Amino acid sequence: MQVDGPPGMGDDHDHQPWRRDETLGSGSKRPASDAGPGNDRSSGTQVHPIVGCTDWGEVRQNVHMVFIHPTADIEPDVTIGHGTKIWRLTHIRSTASLGADCNVGRNVFVDVGVSVGARCKIQNNVSVYEGVTLEDDVFVGPSAVFTNDRTPRAFGDWEVVPTLVRRGASIGGGAVIVCGVVIGEYAMVGAGAVVTRDVEAYRLVLGNPARPVGWVCRCGKVVSRSNSRPEPLECETCRTSDLGDNGQGDGAT
Ligand SMILES: CC(C)(COP(=O)(O)OP(=O)(O)OC[C@H]1O[C@@H](n2cnc3c(N)ncnc32)[C@H](O)[C@@H]1OP(=O)(O)O)[C@@H](O)C(=O)NCCC(=O)NCCS
Repeated sequence: MQVDGPPGMGDDHDHQPWRRDETLGSGSKRPASDAGPGNDRSSGTQVHPIVGCTDWGEVRQNVHMVFIHPTADIEPDVTIGHGTKIWRLTHIRSTASLGADCNVGRNVFVDVGVSVGARCKIQNNVSVYEGVTLEDDVFVGPSAVFTNDRTPRAFGDWEVVPTLVRRGASIGGGAVIVCGVVIGEYAMVGAGAVVTRDVEAYRLVLGNPARPVGWVCRCGKVVSRSNSRPEPLECETCRTSDLGDNGQGDGAT
């Protein structure tokens, strides 16, 4: 779907953010039951027309709106959850879905059918190709790339191999995720890593090829550089605060 400016915009409309109400596109929406595991699709399943331009104050005050920069290209049949913001030159392809309260940076590419959970942060210049699922609260650093065909050619069809990034995991800037892997909950992929194998939950992986080198707390701090999993798997701060529930039934497996 081509993004058109709303009625009543001034000459400087290229610099004015505007909003649409809830989700975008035409045609049928993907039902909530189709969402990837753990994805929050409780909001963002209806289609509404453009409701006009806005300003920053309004965007900040009304988190139930979807914010899309006028230079972004949102194709038909895209589902976008409440409060999600999509910035300059980003391209969201048909049938992709993004949960509520995501922040999608500049020049991001989200391919056909990609599923992004709620509260994900996707930084500038990231490419998320078909076959990728990001669960809730996933962070993807600038210029990270997800691949989707293990043996690509310029000719013939793609053989899409799925990749799953579980809840709360972070992918460092410039990382390459070779398709067919599962990145575990709250895992941390270091900047520039090339991930070729599954990553355990709460694992820190670095390098090319990415290798496990430690463990991270749910908050992201490195808590151990050892190969064996520390107990409890928390940093000092989280251990002594309400945040800390790693290893107690919240996915720290
Ligand atoms: C890995 C990371 C989490 C830091 O972990 P850490 O254990 O605190 O790492 P340190 O800074 O103490 O460095 C420990 C060693 O790992 C190396 N190292 C750190 N980050 C690395 C990376 N991404 N790849 C390879 N090696 C790395 C350091 O050079 C150091 O090695 P040395 O002891 O031989 O000098 C961090 O460096 C990183 O990559 N974070 C992601 C940043 C990012 O992409 N942010 C995106 C938003 S801008």
